[in-house]
Amino acid sequence: MDDQLQPPVRTVWWNEDPSATPSFSLGLLDQTLLPQQVVELSLTHELAVAEAITSLRVRGAPAIGVTAAFGLALALRRIVYDYEQQGHELSLALAQEQLFRTAQLLRQTRPTAVNLAWALERMLLAAQSVLVETSSVAALVERVQMEAHTIAAEDAAACLQMGRYGASLIVDGMSLLTHCNAGALATSGLGSALAPIYTAQRQGKQLHVYVDETRPVLQGARLTAWELQRSQVPCTLITDNMAGTFMRQGKIQAIFVGADRITANGDIANKIGTYSVAVLAQAHGIPLYVVAPCSTIDLALETGDGIPIEQRDPGEVSSLGGQMIAPLGVAIANPAFDVTPHHLISAIITEKGIARSPYVQTLQQMCAISNEKVS
Ligand code: MRU
Repeated sequence: MDDQLQPPVRTVWWNEDPSATPSFSLGLLDQTLLPQQVVELSLTHELAVAEAITSLRVRGAPAIGVTAAFGLALALRRIVYDYEQQGHELSLALAQEQLFRTAQLLRQTRPTAVNLAWALERMLLAAQSVLVETSSVAALVERVQMEAHTIAAEDAAACLQMGRYGASLIVDGMSLLTHCNAGALATSGLGSALAPIYTAQRQGKQLHVYVDETRPVLQGARLTAWELQRSQVPCTLITDNMAGTFMRQGKIQAIFVGADRITANGDIANKIGTYSVAVLAQAHGIPLYVVAPCSTIDLALETGDGIPIEQRDPGEVSSLGGQMIAPLGVAIANPAFDVTPHHLISAIITEKGIARSPYVQTLQQMCAISNEKVS
């Protein structure tokens, strides 16, 4: 990793401590408690990992992919440990079955971000490469853990690259807008949409970031504002419905957002409210940049219409900070994501370069190449 540009916070990590019982655990920063409390969790069971993803203790597309990968490694270590405690020996076939069952459990936790399913598939392929006839449980454990660490390391490296490409679009003195949290808290590195901002700041560019609060779960207010403040990036928190006014006043020159899934034609799913921001951006002639690693690109889906949109608990809308803000019994809708059509997107920035329209060609090209710039 670039030793000059470290993530401002660690989000998901693996613990190995021979003095602890058990000696392994998955570390997560509990994002539901931010910004009031900074609490690190040590999870030792895959059910706790599933709960952490569903309840948004860990969130953001790349971070949940990395967490799911470590979740499989954890499930394997846990079952090996349980067998050892009971004085039994676990067979390789049973160990692999445990991985498949855990993958099913984790796959169901959140449907929209494709990074989750992508990471699980990659882990299962790695597990399958350990052949039952010729290998051992110890070899499977080693292979699975190595794959999870590789996924995390690749994610961190992708963040640095997205930062470099994205920063080339930021001019000294710019004011930017971001929605939700696509920062270090959403990845195992610097972030996606915030990586260009951290990189531009490191390059000495003066910038200012307007942060949409991002109702109903307030990822902007609770997480992005906290993360930017920690990194000394000048920022102003606004409510979602203020964005249009600041655009009209000429206070925003570019918008950087992340994505949970990008389809072959360049449509993107991201946090609810991104579509409204995109429409406003077009009305004001402001470029909207989507920053996401290639693990977020789902070429199997032609358009955004095919993206499954997570519907979350109505309670997230009817209450705020534990207080009811709506009449009991009122009908509530709570889609967690929306789809922004490709024609509203100025460019899609990945670790492989900057893709522009026609995305149906440039994204294909981008997924096929490594380390070249697509433009
Ligand atoms: O519900 P969340 O908090 O997981 O939603 C997160 C987002 O929508 C992010 O913008 C997206 O995952 C990109 S994160 C690099």
